[in-house]
Amino acid sequence: MSPSAILQSRNVDEAADHIRSSFKPPFKFAVLTGTGSGESLSSLRVDGAMDYRDIPNFPRSTVPSHYGRLSAGKIAGQPVLLFQGRFHLYEGYTPQQVTFPIRVMQALGVEVLIMTNAAGGLNPLFSIGDIMIIADHINLTGANPLAGPNHDAWGERFPEMTHAYHWRLQELAQSASRHLEVGVQKGIYAGLLGPSLETPAEMRFLKRMGADAVGFSTVMETIAAVHGGIQVLALSVITNLCLPDAPSSSSVDEIIGVAHQAAPHLEAIVIDVIERLDTESDEL
Ligand code: HPA
Repeated sequence: MSPSAILQSRNVDEAADHIRSSFKPPFKFAVLTGTGSGESLSSLRVDGAMDYRDIPNFPRSTVPSHYGRLSAGKIAGQPVLLFQGRFHLYEGYTPQQVTFPIRVMQALGVEVLIMTNAAGGLNPLFSIGDIMIIADHINLTGANPLAGPNHDAWGERFPEMTHAYHWRLQELAQSASRHLEVGVQKGIYAGLLGPSLETPAEMRFLKRMGADAVGFSTVMETIAAVHGGIQVLALSVITNLCLPDAPSSSSVDEIIGVAHQAAPHLEAIVIDVIERLDTESDEL
């Protein structure tokens, strides 16, 4: 193992040990929230919480709309770790820092990761406020958390990405949305570096390559999670529409406002999925 991989692995273990010393295992489910939905999952029966800054080696969230807090609790009797706040490449973090929480989850034995994010809608059938189940992604960041020497204990050199977003979890999210009567879309998420928003030419390009939504997060975490054997469900809130032929500017405040409004629906789906997993987990 390379010296940097040894250091990374040691840092992850230290963080995991700290979490284990404060919260009781098992840690089966993790939820990682994104823009504007940091405070959601109010129905988590919280057993304990800690700030990211108190976890050894954990990066700090620099984005105002992102909390930096880890809570442990229960939903439907299932143990859930809630990571409120994520790290982005556009903040200047390396792919390894962005995926540090995922490696900590892996060290803690997390089996299922549910992520949320805010995204711009490219599909003309989408409306502002829609929730999109991510069926697949296109990594356009130019980065990959697995570049460099492979840490074999974490996963294989060339992990499969044909089912990066677990099909059964997608089905459960769809069933949950029907049950809750919350309309959802399904689509492809294009992950960009950011932070500058897309030009009309880029929007056109992304649409033509088959993307339904675009954002600056999630793909690094998904790649690391799949590498580490964690099953992934990811849900985007469509906070604005990317219309290359009628471009309109959307402010960050508007984007956060829409994400806030959609948060209860997102939360209801996440809870419903965890409840369904409770009864179906053996089948996954
Ligand atoms: N582009 C990138 N990220 C985003 C957008 C967008 O239009 N909306 C919300 N997050």
